[in-house]
Amino acid sequence: MASLSSALPHPLAALGERLSAQPASWLVTGSAGFIGSHLVETLLGWGQTVVGVDNFATGHRRNLDEVRSLVSREQWRRHRFIEADICDLGACREACREVDFVLHQAALGSVPRSLANPVATNAANVDGFLNMLVAARDAGVKRFVYAASSSTYGDHQALPKVEAHIGRPLSPYAVTKLVNELYAEVFARCYAFPSIGLRYFNVFGARQDPEGAYAAVIPRWTRAMLLGEEVTIHGDGETSRDFCFVDNAVQANLLAATIDDAAALNQVYNVAVDDRTSLNRLFELLRDELAEFRPDLRAVRPVYGDFRPGDVRHSQADIAKARRLLGYLPSHRLEAGIRAAMPWYVSQFAVVEGAS
Ligand SMILES: NC(=O)c1ccc[n+]([C@@H]2O[C@H](COP(=O)([O-])OP(=O)(O)OC[C@H]3O[C@@H](n4cnc5c(N)ncnc54)[C@H](O)[C@@H]3O)[C@@H](O)[C@H]2O)c1
Repeated sequence: MASLSSALPHPLAALGERLSAQPASWLVTGSAGFIGSHLVETLLGWGQTVVGVDNFATGHRRNLDEVRSLVSREQWRRHRFIEADICDLGACREACREVDFVLHQAALGSVPRSLANPVATNAANVDGFLNMLVAARDAGVKRFVYAASSSTYGDHQALPKVEAHIGRPLSPYAVTKLVNELYAEVFARCYAFPSIGLRYFNVFGARQDPEGAYAAVIPRWTRAMLLGEEVTIHGDGETSRDFCFVDNAVQANLLAATIDDAAALNQVYNVAVDDRTSLNRLFELLRDELAEFRPDLRAVRPVYGDFRPGDVRHSQADIAKARRLLGYLPSHRLEAGIRAAMPWYVSQFAVVEGAS
């Protein structure tokens, strides 16, 4: 995880001190993925015991190797990894044994992937989610925090997005994330099982996979620029998003897992910055930041392609609820997040270029 960007008092710093004094046992599913590996890194850095589960569907062993290189040997000894599919209920039960908190990240992301293969997305995101809820409930975990999604706002037009007002889903992926929220709500009602859902909005940062057809926009464009490939903007470039640096998502997870206020439980929260950046502006920001490392990139221009089916036009989070009930305070806006993340991408592709 990147260091905190300012000297301001920060919720994560206070929480880190509190947790370091009271080590607990955590399960992070999807731990070899992008957000999951940042959660593992932060928790191990705070002296927590962490079990990770992943089946490497989209995650990578190298992400865990990187975490290992970033924590001390002593901290890494508190990490146990289980290679398993969350569609296997027995494996979920094994992973939940003697765990205090679950941070459930494992899922198949990407709207286009879900359009191409809704069955696979449903299996991981709905069947797998239900297995994890059942296993966590039966193991008596204290709290289940899960990755929900801004895609749940679907065709609801109002901006900024407020948790209570959602539209109809625009993709199979969005259906699965809505179903997660419904199951969590029903588990609270029927079994008094406490959970919190975090509707992430376009999270980005180091270790977000830049490869493949389903890569997210920031790693995809960054990779393309560094390798001298074409950057395609889908549509006119005025599509906008509330891009959220991964440290903000980590903060939200750890606050959600440990908040004492009963009113904060069994709720969903937007996790982003409450800002909106067009794809055209994002392109400029990335190019200008990368040009600090590679001045030749200053002249790069994008090409424009068709709009993608299933994509929402604009997205921006109202984060007042997370501020009020969780004490969430984003540490990084988009520009600061890009500055923190780009050196990682530059280092990745410098190696690739040198090897070819
Ligand atoms: N990154 C974003 O912008 C964003 C936005 C909204 C929601 N989310 C959600 O956040 C979570 C984490 O996303 P991410 O960006 O880190 O993606 P990621 O693909 O890097 O991480 C997901 C991890 O889950 C693992 N996984 C998938 N299916 C599995 C299965 N059946 N069993 C075990 N492991 C499995 C993958 O191998 C991967 O390591 C996901 O639930 C995603 O839907 C992400």
